[in-house]
Amino acid sequence: MEDALKSTSGLSGKRLALRELRLVYTDALEEHLADGTENSKHSACDIGRWAIAQEIGVTKVVAVHHECVGRILFRLAGSVSCKEGLRRAGDFLAEALSPYEQAHRGSSETIPALRQMNERMEREIQRIALAVHDEAGQLIYAVHLAIATAAEASSPVVHQHLAEIGAMLHRAEQGLRRLSHELRPMILDDLGLTPALQSLAERVSRTTGIAIEFEGSVDHRLDAKVETALYRIVHEALTNVVKHAHAKKVTIELQRDHTMLKCLIRDDGVGFDPAGVGKGQRGLGLAGVRERAAAVGGTLQIKSEPQRGTELLVEIPLRKTTCRSEYSSPMTTPSFARP
Ligand SMILES: Nc1ncnc2c1ncn2[C@@H]1O[C@H](COP(=O)(O)OP(=O)(O)O)[C@@H](O)[C@H]1O
Ligand SMILES: [Mg+2]
Repeated sequence: MEDALKSTSGLSGKRLALRELRLVYTDALEEHLADGTENSKHSACDIGRWAIAQEIGVTKVVAVHHECVGRILFRLAGSVSCKEGLRRAGDFLAEALSPYEQAHRGSSETIPALRQMNERMEREIQRIALAVHDEAGQLIYAVHLAIATAAEASSPVVHQHLAEIGAMLHRAEQGLRRLSHELRPMILDDLGLTPALQSLAERVSRTTGIAIEFEGSVDHRLDAKVETALYRIVHEALTNVVKHAHAKKVTIELQRDHTMLKCLIRDDGVGFDPAGVGKGQRGLGLAGVRERAAAVGGTLQIKSEPQRGTELLVEIPLRKTTCRSEYSSPMTTPSFARP
């Protein structure tokens, strides 16, 4: 069975994986129903682990189990009683699902740690943004004053040099101010997610020439952690478009209903194979996006194929605490037209 599992792990496509699951599950379950030993039960656990790796959901495994049980019991009628067969089948299913339970337990321990890490990072970013804005800003102001004083008593030639130094300093000051705003956009704190994302999209579009369309809005303020997470996610997605996609057009769709905040970022660029990301040194940015989404209880789906553009869909469930209490009415925005 291991060989069968190994040989299928290289195959792509959910349907192929599901077909393989049916075959492997049928063989292993039949063996277990016939002899009912611990040994044959262990293969159920291997199958569960393999199914997780193939991103086959728990409900699919249960459905495959039900498909197989009746067929096999019918075949084995006579050699094992129906009651005993059902008991063994139940044990087998529990074993096949145990890796799902372990994975769930693992992720519920990881998410609070991720949340804490993001909060610490966010505080640190805020501290750096303030230091860049205030401390460096004040220092530069002091240098401007010193240049002005020196210029008063200097010859026309030195005066000219000092004016040039002043102009360079001014450019450095503008760069630092831009950096501090990028690190922690005031607009996000003051006006919320929609204006902050619109402003980000406009800035990226202006500096790169890529057409960026922004659709939908979230009228009401959300939990600051959710707003910050989504802002940083869209920022990374746009950075990736600029760095890797060679795209002409990007669409950002933001939608919120009573229970879910959804954001779709789609580009028409060169695309890539998402299965290759995360191997070796690549993929820190997208891994960060996934972690940021997970830290606020959300998920990330990546749809991309070489030469066919890229689509990131982030879904964040909205609990009562993720919406700021002073706002309550729901809103409607365009529904996602998914290809
Ligand atoms: N929008 C995109 N279009 C094309 N390729 C992309 C896009 N987003 C990500 N990629 C590919 O996925 C890889 C991983 O992205 P990411 O995790 O953000 O890491 P990094 O940007 O540091 O390379 C990139 O190196 C690139 O090959
Ligand atoms: Mg990146």
